[in-house]
Amino acid sequence: MADLSKYRPSSSYNSPYWTTNSGAPVWNNNNSLTVGQRGPILLEDYQLVEKLANFDRERIPERVVHARGASAKGFFEVTHDISHLTSADFLRAPGEQTPVIVRFSTVIHERGSPETLRDPRGFAVKFYTREGNFDLVGNNFPVFFVRDGMKFPDMVHALKPNPKSHIQEDWRILDFFSHHPESLHMFTFLFDDVGVPQDYRHMEGFGVNTYTLINKEGKAHYVKFHWKPTVEVKNLLEDEAIKVGGANHSHATQDLFDSIGAGTFPEWKLFIQIIDPDHEDKFDFDPLDVTKTWPEDILPLQPVGRLVLNKNIDNFFAENEQLAFCPAIVVPGIYYSDDKLLQTRIFSYADSQRHRLGPNYLQLPVNAPKSAHHNNHHEGFMNFMHRDEEINYFPSRYDPVRHAEPVPLPPTYFNAKRDRTIIEKENNFQQPGERYRSFAPERQERFIKRWVAALSDPRVTDEIRSIWITNWSQADKSLGQELASRLNIKV
Ligand code: HEM
Repeated sequence: MADLSKYRPSSSYNSPYWTTNSGAPVWNNNNSLTVGQRGPILLEDYQLVEKLANFDRERIPERVVHARGASAKGFFEVTHDISHLTSADFLRAPGEQTPVIVRFSTVIHERGSPETLRDPRGFAVKFYTREGNFDLVGNNFPVFFVRDGMKFPDMVHALKPNPKSHIQEDWRILDFFSHHPESLHMFTFLFDDVGVPQDYRHMEGFGVNTYTLINKEGKAHYVKFHWKPTVEVKNLLEDEAIKVGGANHSHATQDLFDSIGAGTFPEWKLFIQIIDPDHEDKFDFDPLDVTKTWPEDILPLQPVGRLVLNKNIDNFFAENEQLAFCPAIVVPGIYYSDDKLLQTRIFSYADSQRHRLGPNYLQLPVNAPKSAHHNNHHEGFMNFMHRDEEINYFPSRYDPVRHAEPVPLPPTYFNAKRDRTIIEKENNFQQPGERYRSFAPERQERFIKRWVAALSDPRVTDEIRSIWITNWSQADKSLGQELASRLNIKV
Protein backbone atom coordinates (compact mmCIF):
# COMPACT_ATOMS: atom_id res chain seq x y z
CA MET A 1 0.00 0.00 0.00
CA ALA A 2 1.28 3.48 -0.89
CA ASP A 3 2.40 5.72 1.97
CA LEU A 4 -0.79 7.76 2.45
CA SER A 5 1.07 10.56 4.25
CA LYS A 6 2.68 11.50 0.92
CA TYR A 7 -0.66 12.52 -0.58
CA ARG A 8 -1.24 16.27 -0.58
CA PRO A 9 -4.43 18.00 -1.73
CA SER A 10 -3.83 19.05 -5.32
CA SER A 11 -5.63 19.16 -8.66
CA SER A 12 -3.58 16.14 -9.69
CA TYR A 13 -5.63 13.97 -7.30
CA ASN A 14 -8.94 15.13 -8.78
CA SER A 15 -11.59 12.41 -9.01
CA PRO A 16 -13.70 12.32 -12.17
CA TYR A 17 -16.85 12.97 -10.09
CA TRP A 18 -17.83 15.55 -7.42
CA THR A 19 -17.06 14.78 -3.80
CA THR A 20 -17.32 16.51 -0.43
CA ASN A 21 -14.09 17.72 1.17
CA SER A 22 -13.83 14.42 2.98
CA GLY A 23 -14.10 12.54 -0.29
CA ALA A 24 -17.72 11.29 -0.14
CA PRO A 25 -19.34 11.10 -3.58
CA VAL A 26 -21.72 13.95 -4.39
CA TRP A 27 -24.50 12.59 -6.59
CA ASN A 28 -26.51 15.80 -6.87
CA ASN A 29 -24.76 19.18 -6.83
CA ASN A 30 -27.87 21.07 -7.97
CA ASN A 31 -30.56 20.56 -5.35
CA SER A 32 -30.52 20.88 -1.58
CA LEU A 33 -31.98 18.14 0.58
CA THR A 34 -35.54 19.12 1.41
CA VAL A 35 -38.69 17.71 2.97
CA GLY A 36 -40.76 17.12 -0.09
CA GLN A 37 -40.33 19.12 -3.26
CA ARG A 38 -40.75 22.61 -1.73
CA GLY A 39 -38.78 22.33 1.52
CA PRO A 40 -37.88 23.20 4.24
CA ILE A 41 -34.19 22.33 3.91
CA LEU A 42 -32.80 19.76 6.32
CA LEU A 43 -29.91 20.68 8.58
CA GLU A 44 -28.57 17.20 7.89
CA ASP A 45 -27.74 18.34 4.33
CA TYR A 46 -24.05 18.27 5.18
CA GLN A 47 -23.17 18.69 1.53
CA LEU A 48 -24.96 22.06 1.33
CA VAL A 49 -23.68 23.22 4.73
CA GLU A 50 -20.09 22.36 3.77
CA LYS A 51 -20.42 24.16 0.45
CA LEU A 52 -21.79 27.33 2.07
CA ALA A 53 -19.34 27.20 4.96
CA ASN A 54 -16.41 27.09 2.55
CA PHE A 55 -17.85 29.88 0.47
CA ASP A 56 -18.53 32.01 3.55
CA ARG A 57 -14.86 31.79 4.49
CA GLU A 58 -13.26 32.27 1.04
CA ARG A 59 -11.74 35.67 1.75
CA ILE A 60 -8.71 36.08 3.98
CA PRO A 61 -7.67 39.50 5.34
CA GLU A 62 -6.10 41.53 2.59
CA ARG A 63 -2.61 42.91 3.14
CA VAL A 64 -2.70 45.99 5.36
CA VAL A 65 -0.72 47.76 2.63
CA HIS A 66 0.10 46.60 -0.92
CA ALA A 67 -3.23 44.72 -1.10
CA ARG A 68 -3.51 45.13 -4.87
CA GLY A 69 -0.90 43.10 -6.71
CA ALA A 70 0.07 40.76 -9.51
CA SER A 71 2.68 38.03 -9.45
CA ALA A 72 4.69 35.96 -11.89
CA LYS A 73 7.46 33.38 -11.80
CA GLY A 74 10.83 33.06 -13.48
CA PHE A 75 14.51 32.96 -12.68
CA PHE A 76 17.41 35.12 -11.58
CA GLU A 77 20.74 34.57 -13.30
CA VAL A 78 24.11 35.85 -12.13
CA THR A 79 25.89 37.68 -14.96
CA HIS A 80 28.80 39.22 -13.03
CA ASP A 81 30.98 37.79 -10.31
CA ILE A 82 30.49 39.45 -6.92
CA SER A 83 31.77 36.53 -4.85
CA HIS A 84 34.48 38.86 -3.47
CA LEU A 85 31.64 40.81 -1.80
CA THR A 86 29.31 38.08 -0.59
CA SER A 87 29.35 34.42 0.33
CA ALA A 88 25.71 34.05 -0.79
CA ASP A 89 25.49 30.69 -2.54
CA PHE A 90 23.02 31.86 -5.20
CA LEU A 91 25.46 34.63 -6.21
CA ARG A 92 28.47 32.30 -6.31
CA ALA A 93 29.33 32.56 -10.04
CA PRO A 94 28.11 33.92 -13.36
CA GLY A 95 25.64 31.56 -14.99
CA GLU A 96 24.03 30.38 -11.71
CA GLN A 97 20.24 30.47 -11.94
CA THR A 98 17.75 30.62 -9.06
CA PRO A 99 13.95 30.25 -9.34
CA VAL A 100 11.99 33.31 -8.22
CA ILE A 101 8.48 34.55 -7.74
CA VAL A 102 7.87 38.29 -8.00
CA ARG A 103 4.90 40.30 -6.78
CA PHE A 104 4.22 43.82 -8.02
CA SER A 105 1.69 45.92 -6.20
CA THR A 106 0.22 49.31 -5.50
CA VAL A 107 0.37 50.43 -1.88
CA ILE A 108 -2.58 52.25 -0.49
CA HIS A 109 -5.88 51.04 -1.89
CA GLU A 110 -7.81 47.82 -1.67
CA ARG A 111 -7.34 44.46 -3.32
CA GLY A 112 -9.52 45.37 -6.31
CA SER A 113 -8.55 49.03 -6.71
CA PRO A 114 -7.48 50.54 -10.07
CA GLU A 115 -3.86 50.09 -11.08
CA THR A 116 -3.60 53.61 -12.49
CA LEU A 117 -3.51 55.52 -9.21
CA ARG A 118 -0.66 57.80 -8.15
CA ASP A 119 1.02 55.57 -5.60
CA PRO A 120 4.38 53.85 -5.14
CA ARG A 121 4.56 50.36 -6.64
CA GLY A 122 5.86 47.35 -4.75
CA PHE A 123 8.55 45.21 -6.38
CA ALA A 124 9.04 42.14 -4.20
CA VAL A 125 11.23 39.22 -5.25
CA LYS A 126 11.42 35.85 -3.51
CA PHE A 127 14.55 33.89 -4.49
CA TYR A 128 14.24 30.15 -3.75
CA THR A 129 17.96 29.53 -3.14
CA ARG A 130 19.76 26.34 -2.06
CA GLU A 131 20.37 28.03 1.31
CA GLY A 132 16.76 28.97 1.90
CA ASN A 133 14.69 31.85 0.61
CA PHE A 134 15.85 35.43 0.15
CA ASP A 135 13.12 38.07 0.01
CA LEU A 136 14.14 41.37 -1.59
CA VAL A 137 11.04 43.43 -0.79
CA GLY A 138 11.40 46.69 -2.64
CA ASN A 139 9.54 49.49 -4.37
CA ASN A 140 9.74 51.35 -7.68
CA PHE A 141 11.21 54.46 -6.02
CA PRO A 142 14.71 54.41 -4.49
CA VAL A 143 13.77 56.28 -1.29
CA PHE A 144 11.00 56.26 1.30
CA PHE A 145 8.73 58.82 2.99
CA VAL A 146 10.05 58.51 6.56
CA ARG A 147 13.25 57.22 8.05
CA ASP A 148 11.98 55.83 11.35
CA GLY A 149 9.51 52.91 11.39
CA MET A 150 7.84 54.41 14.45
CA LYS A 151 6.12 56.77 12.00
CA PHE A 152 5.00 54.11 9.53
CA PRO A 153 1.52 53.27 10.92
CA ASP A 154 0.59 56.99 11.17
CA MET A 155 1.97 57.60 7.70
CA VAL A 156 -0.13 54.80 6.26
CA HIS A 157 -3.22 56.05 8.11
CA ALA A 158 -2.74 59.52 6.59
CA LEU A 159 -2.31 58.10 3.08
CA LYS A 160 -5.21 55.65 3.37
CA PRO A 161 -8.81 56.81 2.94
CA ASN A 162 -10.32 59.08 5.59
CA PRO A 163 -11.76 56.71 8.26
CA LYS A 164 -15.01 58.70 8.19
CA SER A 165 -15.63 59.05 4.43
CA HIS A 166 -13.38 56.25 3.13
CA ILE A 167 -11.98 58.68 0.56
CA GLN A 168 -8.27 59.40 0.16
CA GLU A 169 -7.93 63.12 0.89
CA ASP A 170 -5.01 65.44 0.14
CA TRP A 171 -5.54 67.59 3.23
CA ARG A 172 -4.88 64.64 5.53
CA ILE A 173 -1.76 63.62 3.57
CA LEU A 174 -0.39 67.17 3.44
CA ASP A 175 -1.15 67.69 7.12
CA PHE A 176 0.79 64.60 8.19
CA PHE A 177 3.76 65.13 5.90
CA SER A 178 4.01 68.85 6.73
CA HIS A 179 5.55 67.53 9.97
CA HIS A 180 8.06 65.44 8.02
CA PRO A 181 10.36 67.36 5.67
CA GLU A 182 12.35 64.14 5.20
CA SER A 183 9.47 63.05 2.92
CA LEU A 184 10.25 65.73 0.27
CA HIS A 185 12.62 63.45 -1.62
CA MET A 186 10.00 60.69 -1.90
CA PHE A 187 7.50 63.29 -3.10
CA THR A 188 9.86 64.24 -5.94
CA PHE A 189 9.12 60.72 -7.19
CA LEU A 190 5.45 60.37 -6.23
CA PHE A 191 4.41 63.72 -7.74
CA ASP A 192 6.73 63.27 -10.72
CA ASP A 193 5.65 61.40 -13.89
CA VAL A 194 6.99 58.13 -12.42
CA GLY A 195 4.19 58.39 -9.81
CA VAL A 196 1.93 56.49 -12.26
CA PRO A 197 3.96 53.80 -14.07
CA GLN A 198 2.52 52.64 -17.40
CA ASP A 199 2.41 49.06 -16.07
CA TYR A 200 4.63 46.75 -14.03
CA ARG A 201 6.96 45.83 -16.92
CA HIS A 202 8.08 49.37 -17.68
CA MET A 203 9.25 50.41 -14.24
CA GLU A 204 12.40 50.29 -12.17
CA GLY A 205 12.75 48.55 -8.83
CA PHE A 206 14.89 49.26 -5.79
CA GLY A 207 15.71 47.41 -2.59
CA VAL A 208 15.38 50.92 -1.08
CA ASN A 209 16.85 50.07 2.32
CA THR A 210 20.56 49.53 2.86
CA TYR A 211 21.57 45.90 3.25
CA THR A 212 24.97 44.39 4.05
CA LEU A 213 26.92 41.97 1.91
CA ILE A 214 29.46 39.86 3.78
CA ASN A 215 32.15 37.79 2.09
CA LYS A 216 33.80 34.54 3.20
CA GLU A 217 36.49 36.46 5.10
CA GLY A 218 33.82 38.32 7.06
CA LYS A 219 34.38 41.69 5.33
CA ALA A 220 31.12 43.66 5.14
CA HIS A 221 29.94 46.23 2.59
CA TYR A 222 26.77 48.28 2.65
CA VAL A 223 24.75 47.71 -0.48
CA LYS A 224 21.76 49.15 -2.31
CA PHE A 225 19.95 47.05 -4.93
CA HIS A 226 18.59 48.46 -8.22
CA TRP A 227 16.42 46.70 -10.82
CA LYS A 228 16.53 48.28 -14.30
CA PRO A 229 14.02 47.05 -16.88
CA THR A 230 15.47 46.04 -20.25
CA VAL A 231 12.61 48.01 -21.83
CA GLU A 232 12.21 51.77 -21.47
CA VAL A 233 10.68 53.19 -18.26
CA LYS A 234 7.21 54.42 -19.22
CA ASN A 235 4.57 56.29 -17.27
CA LEU A 236 1.00 57.44 -17.70
CA LEU A 237 0.23 61.13 -17.63
CA GLU A 238 -3.05 62.17 -15.99
CA ASP A 239 -5.26 61.97 -19.10
CA GLU A 240 -3.82 58.65 -20.17
CA ALA A 241 -4.23 57.18 -16.69
CA ILE A 242 -7.89 58.14 -16.63
CA LYS A 243 -8.47 56.49 -20.01
CA VAL A 244 -6.50 53.33 -19.25
CA GLY A 245 -7.97 52.93 -15.77
CA GLY A 246 -11.47 53.70 -16.97
CA ALA A 247 -11.28 51.00 -19.63
CA ASN A 248 -9.68 48.33 -17.43
CA HIS A 249 -9.00 48.75 -13.74
CA SER A 250 -6.67 45.69 -13.86
CA HIS A 251 -4.63 46.83 -16.84
CA ALA A 252 -1.20 46.23 -15.25
CA THR A 253 -2.09 42.71 -14.08
CA GLN A 254 -3.43 42.01 -17.56
CA ASP A 255 -0.32 43.41 -19.22
CA LEU A 256 1.93 41.19 -17.11
CA PHE A 257 -0.19 38.08 -17.67
CA ASP A 258 -0.64 38.65 -21.41
CA SER A 259 3.00 39.52 -22.06
CA ILE A 260 4.23 36.36 -20.39
CA GLY A 261 1.51 34.34 -22.13
CA ALA A 262 2.66 35.75 -25.49
CA GLY A 263 6.31 34.93 -24.77
CA THR A 264 7.39 38.56 -24.27
CA PHE A 265 9.15 37.90 -21.01
CA PRO A 266 9.65 40.92 -18.75
CA GLU A 267 13.29 41.30 -17.78
CA TRP A 268 15.28 43.47 -15.39
CA LYS A 269 18.99 43.80 -14.77
CA LEU A 270 20.17 43.84 -11.17
CA PHE A 271 22.80 46.41 -10.15
CA ILE A 272 24.35 47.21 -6.80
CA GLN A 273 25.98 50.24 -5.26
CA ILE A 274 28.39 49.58 -2.45
CA ILE A 275 29.88 51.58 0.42
CA ASP A 276 32.64 50.32 2.67
CA PRO A 277 31.29 50.82 6.23
CA ASP A 278 34.72 52.21 7.17
CA HIS A 279 33.88 55.20 4.95
CA GLU A 280 30.27 55.73 6.00
CA ASP A 281 31.04 59.03 7.77
CA LYS A 282 32.54 60.75 4.76
CA PHE A 283 29.19 61.78 3.22
CA ASP A 284 27.12 64.84 4.03
CA PHE A 285 24.15 62.51 4.49
CA ASP A 286 23.75 59.32 6.47
CA PRO A 287 24.06 56.36 4.07
CA LEU A 288 21.67 54.35 6.25
CA ASP A 289 18.98 57.04 5.97
CA VAL A 290 16.30 55.58 3.69
CA THR A 291 15.24 59.05 2.49
CA LYS A 292 18.56 59.35 0.62
CA THR A 293 19.91 58.00 -2.64
CA TRP A 294 23.60 57.29 -2.99
CA PRO A 295 25.09 59.54 -5.72
CA GLU A 296 25.77 57.35 -8.73
CA ASP A 297 28.66 59.49 -9.97
CA ILE A 298 30.75 58.58 -6.93
CA LEU A 299 29.13 55.22 -6.14
CA PRO A 300 28.53 53.73 -9.60
CA LEU A 301 26.01 51.00 -10.35
CA GLN A 302 27.71 47.63 -10.71
CA PRO A 303 25.99 44.88 -12.70
CA VAL A 304 25.16 41.61 -10.93
CA GLY A 305 22.54 39.64 -12.81
CA ARG A 306 19.23 39.50 -14.60
CA LEU A 307 15.68 38.63 -13.63
CA VAL A 308 13.40 37.04 -16.22
CA LEU A 309 9.70 36.39 -15.65
CA ASN A 310 8.74 33.59 -18.01
CA LYS A 311 5.85 31.80 -16.27
CA ASN A 312 2.45 32.95 -15.20
CA ILE A 313 1.04 31.82 -11.89
CA ASP A 314 -1.42 28.92 -11.95
CA ASN A 315 -3.64 30.22 -9.19
CA PHE A 316 -4.08 33.78 -7.97
CA PHE A 317 -5.06 32.86 -4.43
CA ALA A 318 -2.25 30.35 -3.85
CA GLU A 319 0.49 32.36 -5.53
CA ASN A 320 -0.55 35.93 -4.91
CA GLU A 321 -2.87 36.20 -1.92
CA GLN A 322 -0.98 33.58 0.05
CA LEU A 323 2.42 34.79 -1.11
CA ALA A 324 4.15 36.33 1.89
CA PHE A 325 7.33 38.39 1.88
CA CYS A 326 9.50 39.56 4.75
CA PRO A 327 12.72 41.62 4.59
CA ALA A 328 14.01 39.54 7.53
CA ILE A 329 14.28 36.52 5.24
CA VAL A 330 17.89 36.64 4.06
CA VAL A 331 20.55 34.07 3.24
CA PRO A 332 24.13 33.71 4.52
CA GLY A 333 26.24 36.44 2.91
CA ILE A 334 23.40 39.01 2.93
CA TYR A 335 22.44 40.78 6.14
CA TYR A 336 20.47 43.79 7.33
CA SER A 337 21.97 47.17 8.15
CA ASP A 338 21.13 49.47 11.06
CA ASP A 339 18.84 51.48 8.75
CA LYS A 340 16.09 52.20 11.30
CA LEU A 341 13.31 51.66 8.83
CA LEU A 342 14.66 48.29 7.74
CA GLN A 343 15.02 47.25 11.37
CA THR A 344 11.31 47.92 11.87
CA ARG A 345 10.38 46.04 8.73
CA ILE A 346 12.29 43.00 9.98
CA PHE A 347 9.69 42.63 12.71
CA SER A 348 6.55 43.89 11.03
CA TYR A 349 6.16 41.63 7.99
CA ALA A 350 6.34 38.21 9.62
CA ASP A 351 4.08 39.54 12.37
CA SER A 352 1.57 40.64 9.74
CA GLN A 353 1.75 37.29 7.94
CA ARG A 354 1.07 35.40 11.15
CA HIS A 355 -2.11 37.41 11.46
CA ARG A 356 -3.07 37.35 7.78
CA LEU A 357 -2.17 33.76 6.92
CA GLY A 358 -1.56 32.08 10.27
CA PRO A 359 1.45 30.92 12.25
CA ASN A 360 2.38 28.26 9.70
CA TYR A 361 2.35 30.58 6.71
CA LEU A 362 5.86 29.48 5.74
CA GLN A 363 4.52 25.97 5.12
CA LEU A 364 2.30 27.22 2.32
CA PRO A 365 3.83 25.89 -0.90
CA VAL A 366 4.56 29.33 -2.38
CA ASN A 367 6.35 30.47 0.77
CA ALA A 368 8.12 27.26 1.79
CA PRO A 369 11.84 27.02 1.04
CA LYS A 370 12.68 24.63 -1.78
CA SER A 371 15.85 23.61 0.07
CA ALA A 372 15.84 20.96 2.80
CA HIS A 373 14.97 22.47 6.17
CA HIS A 374 14.49 21.28 9.70
CA ASN A 375 13.78 22.61 13.19
CA ASN A 376 11.65 21.92 16.22
CA HIS A 377 9.03 24.62 15.64
CA HIS A 378 5.95 22.49 15.30
CA GLU A 379 2.16 22.24 15.65
CA GLY A 380 -0.01 25.37 15.64
CA PHE A 381 -3.03 26.18 13.49
CA MET A 382 -3.21 24.57 10.05
CA ASN A 383 0.03 22.71 10.35
CA PHE A 384 0.06 20.28 7.46
CA MET A 385 3.66 19.12 7.71
CA HIS A 386 3.85 15.34 8.08
CA ARG A 387 6.48 14.56 10.71
CA ASP A 388 7.51 11.28 12.20
CA GLU A 389 10.41 12.27 14.49
CA GLU A 390 10.41 11.28 18.15
CA ILE A 391 12.96 13.90 19.13
CA ASN A 392 11.40 17.37 19.10
CA TYR A 393 13.85 19.01 21.47
CA PHE A 394 17.43 20.16 21.21
CA PRO A 395 20.04 19.11 22.10
CA SER A 396 19.61 15.36 22.04
CA ARG A 397 22.06 12.48 21.83
CA TYR A 398 19.49 10.56 19.76
CA ASP A 399 19.18 13.22 17.06
CA PRO A 400 21.99 13.51 14.52
CA VAL A 401 20.85 16.94 13.27
CA ARG A 402 23.74 19.34 13.81
CA HIS A 403 24.25 23.09 13.68
CA ALA A 404 24.78 24.62 10.27
CA GLU A 405 28.15 26.20 9.44
CA PRO A 406 28.55 29.60 11.16
CA VAL A 407 27.00 32.45 9.19
CA PRO A 408 29.11 35.64 9.12
CA LEU A 409 27.57 38.68 10.84
CA PRO A 410 28.61 42.30 10.28
CA PRO A 411 31.64 42.93 12.51
CA THR A 412 30.20 46.11 14.05
CA TYR A 413 31.02 47.34 17.56
CA PHE A 414 28.42 49.37 19.43
CA ASN A 415 29.10 51.86 22.15
CA ALA A 416 26.24 54.25 22.82
CA LYS A 417 23.50 54.87 25.35
CA ARG A 418 19.86 53.99 24.76
CA ASP A 419 17.85 56.89 23.37
CA ARG A 420 14.86 57.86 21.24
CA THR A 421 16.28 60.45 18.93
CA ILE A 422 16.69 61.75 15.40
CA ILE A 423 19.75 61.04 13.27
CA GLU A 424 22.51 63.63 13.14
CA LYS A 425 22.71 64.34 9.41
CA GLU A 426 19.10 64.87 8.38
CA ASN A 427 19.95 66.89 5.26
CA ASN A 428 16.31 66.88 4.13
CA PHE A 429 16.43 69.40 1.31
CA GLN A 430 19.52 68.92 -0.85
CA GLN A 431 18.61 65.74 -2.77
CA PRO A 432 14.97 66.74 -3.46
CA GLY A 433 16.23 70.08 -4.82
CA GLU A 434 18.81 68.38 -7.03
CA ARG A 435 16.22 66.00 -8.38
CA TYR A 436 13.73 68.76 -9.14
CA ARG A 437 16.44 70.75 -10.97
CA SER A 438 17.30 67.65 -13.05
CA PHE A 439 13.79 67.64 -14.59
CA ALA A 440 13.24 69.19 -18.03
CA PRO A 441 11.05 72.36 -17.87
CA GLU A 442 7.82 70.57 -18.99
CA ARG A 443 8.38 67.92 -16.34
CA GLN A 444 8.92 70.62 -13.71
CA GLU A 445 5.69 72.25 -14.86
CA ARG A 446 3.71 69.00 -14.42
CA PHE A 447 5.28 68.55 -10.98
CA ILE A 448 4.29 72.09 -9.97
CA LYS A 449 0.75 71.61 -11.28
CA ARG A 450 0.29 68.48 -9.19
CA TRP A 451 1.45 70.35 -6.10
CA VAL A 452 -0.79 73.31 -6.80
CA ALA A 453 -3.74 70.92 -7.22
CA ALA A 454 -2.99 69.09 -3.96
CA LEU A 455 -2.36 72.27 -1.97
CA SER A 456 -5.57 73.76 -3.35
CA ASP A 457 -7.66 71.22 -1.44
CA PRO A 458 -10.07 73.54 0.41
CA ARG A 459 -9.35 71.82 3.71
CA VAL A 460 -5.62 72.56 3.50
CA THR A 461 -5.08 75.56 5.77
CA ASP A 462 -2.85 78.52 4.87
CA GLU A 463 -0.56 77.43 7.68
CA ILE A 464 -0.04 74.03 6.04
CA ARG A 465 0.37 75.67 2.60
CA SER A 466 3.06 77.96 4.00
CA ILE A 467 4.93 75.07 5.57
CA TRP A 468 5.00 73.20 2.27
CA ILE A 469 6.10 76.29 0.37
CA THR A 470 8.83 76.95 2.92
CA ASN A 471 9.98 73.34 2.70
CA TRP A 472 10.02 73.31 -1.09
CA SER A 473 11.81 76.69 -1.08
CA GLN A 474 14.57 75.15 0.99
CA ALA A 475 14.91 72.40 -1.61
CA ASP A 476 14.71 74.82 -4.54
CA LYS A 477 14.05 78.53 -4.20
CA SER A 478 12.39 78.93 -7.60
CA LEU A 479 10.04 76.00 -6.91
CA GLY A 480 8.92 77.59 -3.64
CA GLN A 481 8.41 80.97 -5.32
CA GLU A 482 6.41 79.39 -8.15
CA LEU A 483 4.12 77.55 -5.72
CA ALA A 484 3.68 80.69 -3.57
CA SER A 485 2.73 82.82 -6.54
CA ARG A 486 0.31 80.29 -8.04
CA LEU A 487 -1.35 79.68 -4.68
CA ASN A 488 -1.29 83.36 -3.85
CA ILE A 489 0.45 82.77 -0.54
CA LYS A 490 2.93 85.12 1.10
CA VAL A 491 5.44 83.24 3.22
C1 HEM B 1 8.83 50.55 8.72
C2 HEM B 1 8.38 50.63 7.50
C3 HEM B 1 7.48 49.58 6.89
C4 HEM B 1 6.62 48.74 7.50
C5 HEM B 1 6.33 48.61 8.98
C6 HEM B 1 6.00 47.95 6.45
C7 HEM B 1 5.04 46.99 6.66
C8 HEM B 1 4.44 46.25 5.69
C9 HEM B 1 3.40 45.28 5.90
C10 HEM B 1 2.81 44.92 7.25
C11 HEM B 1 3.09 44.75 4.69
C12 HEM B 1 2.03 43.70 4.41
C13 HEM B 1 2.65 42.35 4.37
C14 HEM B 1 1.66 41.29 3.96
O1 HEM B 1 0.59 41.21 4.57
O2 HEM B 1 2.00 40.49 3.05
C15 HEM B 1 3.93 45.37 3.72
C16 HEM B 1 3.95 45.05 2.40
C17 HEM B 1 4.89 45.52 1.54
N1 HEM B 1 5.85 46.47 1.79
FE1 HEM B 1 6.18 47.40 3.49
N2 HEM B 1 6.51 48.33 5.25
C18 HEM B 1 7.43 49.32 5.49
C19 HEM B 1 8.20 49.97 4.56
C20 HEM B 1 8.36 49.54 3.28
C21 HEM B 1 9.40 49.97 2.38
C22 HEM B 1 10.50 50.97 2.69
C23 HEM B 1 9.23 49.27 1.23
C24 HEM B 1 10.07 49.31 0.01
C25 HEM B 1 11.34 49.03 0.11
C26 HEM B 1 8.09 48.39 1.40
C27 HEM B 1 7.64 47.50 0.46
C28 HEM B 1 6.60 46.64 0.64
C29 HEM B 1 6.11 45.74 -0.38
C30 HEM B 1 6.65 45.59 -1.79
C31 HEM B 1 5.04 45.04 0.17
C32 HEM B 1 4.15 44.02 -0.52
C33 HEM B 1 4.79 42.65 -0.53
C34 HEM B 1 3.91 41.73 -1.34
O3 HEM B 1 3.86 41.93 -2.57
O4 HEM B 1 3.28 40.84 -0.77
N3 HEM B 1 7.59 48.58 2.65
N4 HEM B 1 4.74 46.30 4.34
